[in-house]
Amino acid sequence: MDNDLIAAARKAAQQSYSPYSKYPVGAALRFADGSIVTGTNIENASYGLALCAETVAVSKAMADGVRGGLEAVAVTGPTDRGDGAPITPCGRCRQVLNELAALGGTDPLIFCVGNDDVREVRLSQLLPHAFGPAHLD
Ligand code: THU
Repeated sequence: MDNDLIAAARKAAQQSYSPYSKYPVGAALRFADGSIVTGTNIENASYGLALCAETVAVSKAMADGVRGGLEAVAVTGPTDRGDGAPITPCGRCRQVLNELAALGGTDPLIFCVGNDDVREVRLSQLLPHAFGPAHLD
């Protein structure tokens, strides 16, 4: 369990722009050098253009030049929606996370945070047989 990473994700969710779904999500990425990059979901009046928290976090990191070293990810959702089960990254975000992970050859641990428990899974478990940059070599 990485309580600092989970706390960072929860804090990031406070900046969520989700007036349409009212479903704030926070994501936090931890890198090999100990640095943490966070993201939150950003929605749009054109609903289908919503950006997920994980994708925003990866975009922030990559825009700052990060290319690998992804060791862990925490994802949090609201505690007053659904059945309280751990939130897991959507399919698109799994693929986006995989790109950054593949660049550094890591298989990050994903902390999927629920109301009462945290599910820990490897990205490769969430996205087995992933398509990645190596396919284009
Ligand atoms: N959302 C995320 O930010 N990450 C996910 O992995 C799942 C969904 C956001 C998108 C949208 O703003 C809201 O949650 C409801 O789907």
